[in-house]
Amino acid sequence: MQRISRHILLAVLLGIPSVGMAGASANTLIESRAIAEQLEQRLQRDLKERLESASGQGALARCHQITQAILEQMSADTGFTIKRISLYAQHPQTQPERWEKVVLETFNAQLKAGDALEKLEFYERHQHKTTTEFHYMRALQPAGVCAHCHQSPQGAVVGALSVVKIVPLR
Ligand code: HEC
Repeated sequence: MQRISRHILLAVLLGIPSVGMAGASANTLIESRAIAEQLEQRLQRDLKERLESASGQGALARCHQITQAILEQMSADTGFTIKRISLYAQHPQTQPERWEKVVLETFNAQLKAGDALEKLEFYERHQHKTTTEFHYMRALQPAGVCAHCHQSPQGAVVGALSVVKIVPLR
């Protein structure tokens, strides 16, 4: 019970209307957040393992390749669309959509205003005619193995994880 109220409180803080949050939305937020957390842990572990066996230029080229394979597998396993996106995208798959770009810019503004990087997350729900669409985003933490190659840019996030679920209306 306490867990749920904490999530509803967060939803309110994030500006999501609390009406209707008790059902599918609250669960989807919990699921989306769990997916993002698992993914970050997995990226840390797998990149470390796989980069240790490669070296120099070989390792450098593999951040995208390794990450993309993990994202695709997790998307297939969970039914959520999971992406890594960045304002500095160098690949079509990491290019943010319009709403994602707005959130990335908001994260940068929050960071400049003094918010902690680990607290930067976003959640919204869109009601369409035949579907409900849940959007979740969370800033990537350039810590651990990532810090070998990524310096924390001054006042800017290196990128974010985007987790989207589309549910058809019955
Ligand atoms: C061995 C070096 C290396 C490590 C370790 C590494 N990266 Fe990268 N990363 C790169 C390079 C080089 C690029 C640019 C080219 C590319 O995308 O492959 C990049 C690109 C990115 C991008 C931008 C996406 C794009 O389109 O270019 C993000 C976001 C990112 N990395 C996040 C991370 C995170 C999070 C971690 C840790 C889990 C991590 N990286 C670990 C080397 C690394």
